[in-house]
Amino acid sequence: MYKTTKEENEILTRVGPGTPMGELLRRYWWPVGFAAHLKDKPTFIRVLCEDLVLFRDGKGKPGVLGAYCSHRRANLCLGNVEKEGLRCRYHGWLYDINGKVLQTPGEPAGSKLKENIHHLSYPTQELGGLVFTYLGTQPAPLLPRFHFLAADGERDCLIQAFNDSNWLQSVENGIDPFHVSFTHGDVWKPMAVEPEKIIFEETEWGAVYKAIRPGRKTGEYNFRMHYIIMPGIASGGDNTVSSGGDLPSSEFPAVTCRWAVPIDDTHTMNLRVRFKPPKQHGVQVAKQLRIEPYKEYKESDNPTLGYGIPPAVFEEDATIVDSLGPIVDRENENLSVIDGGIVILRQMYLKQIELVKAGGDPKGVIRDEEKNKMIVIGGDYRWISEKERKQVEQVTA
Ligand code: FES
Ligand SMILES: [Fe+2]
Repeated sequence: MYKTTKEENEILTRVGPGTPMGELLRRYWWPVGFAAHLKDKPTFIRVLCEDLVLFRDGKGKPGVLGAYCSHRRANLCLGNVEKEGLRCRYHGWLYDINGKVLQTPGEPAGSKLKENIHHLSYPTQELGGLVFTYLGTQPAPLLPRFHFLAADGERDCLIQAFNDSNWLQSVENGIDPFHVSFTHGDVWKPMAVEPEKIIFEETEWGAVYKAIRPGRKTGEYNFRMHYIIMPGIASGGDNTVSSGGDLPSSEFPAVTCRWAVPIDDTHTMNLRVRFKPPKQHGVQVAKQLRIEPYKEYKESDNPTLGYGIPPAVFEEDATIVDSLGPIVDRENENLSVIDGGIVILRQMYLKQIELVKAGGDPKGVIRDEEKNKMIVIGGDYRWISEKERKQVEQVTA
């Protein structure tokens, strides 16, 4: 069976500047904030191991700058937004969204100090309620106009969880149809039964799984199709039907998508967009259960041993994914046939890393405006008949 070596694991998981995976991931736009939250104050963020500030200038344009002031390194998140940009709170240097130093208070008139400094800045764009930034080499590719971001229709954007673990653990969880039965079966009843058939395939944009489970009666099946879109977006069908409801009819599929955004090597922001979401707003950031040696004794003098995961899907995912450790030691895994999706994924990432090293554009990087008008990638979740089962098993994703 396929085995990931310690060396490959190192390549797959390190995301800082100059690392092979870090360079691959820097070829994509990443969501780093919510447009509605970005008002008149900057905020401190970390993306792919880089400390940054995200802000909106007084003219309404979002910007991302290196967090530490080019003067004496104060954190610019403490600064103030002005019409032209962001002013450092320490000695008042003023930056625009392109990293140009506009003012250096105290310098004599005619000082050239500011001319010789270029402060770190990254291109920033808004789409679908999210703010995206691009940390890679120029020229930047297009920000992909996925239908769940760009099409008309209701959507909500939320943070699902902050994981204390490597980004790839979250991505791999998105192409793992089998865990759903054991991790979520308590709260997601139709999923409690194991799939009787799983199909994994690589696609133009990433990879896909199809999982078929026994249905509620003879001749009926539960069908779930879940995509991974590069650089690591899990896109699944709306699961409204699991509670007996109908899927909203739409020109574009109702989907729920999750980005595993690497904060650094051992921290990940799982950010979700729900396009035509079920009517249940106000989802909160998951409070996962954190595992610690002898935890029960630290919390009680008369402990009950063992762990109870909070019974909700986001909490269950965050708890189980973090339980693999900050960076899972993949060399000690023993993969089985249910892990076909993660094998495709790891091989795909390793291949894309080589492509980038050779100077090429990896999978999912797009530069053609024509192709970028609207990119429709679905995901599916529904009850199907015997006949439909035959169809979905045949159709290539
Ligand atoms: S440290 Fe920012 S202006 Fe001095
Ligand atoms: Fe899950």
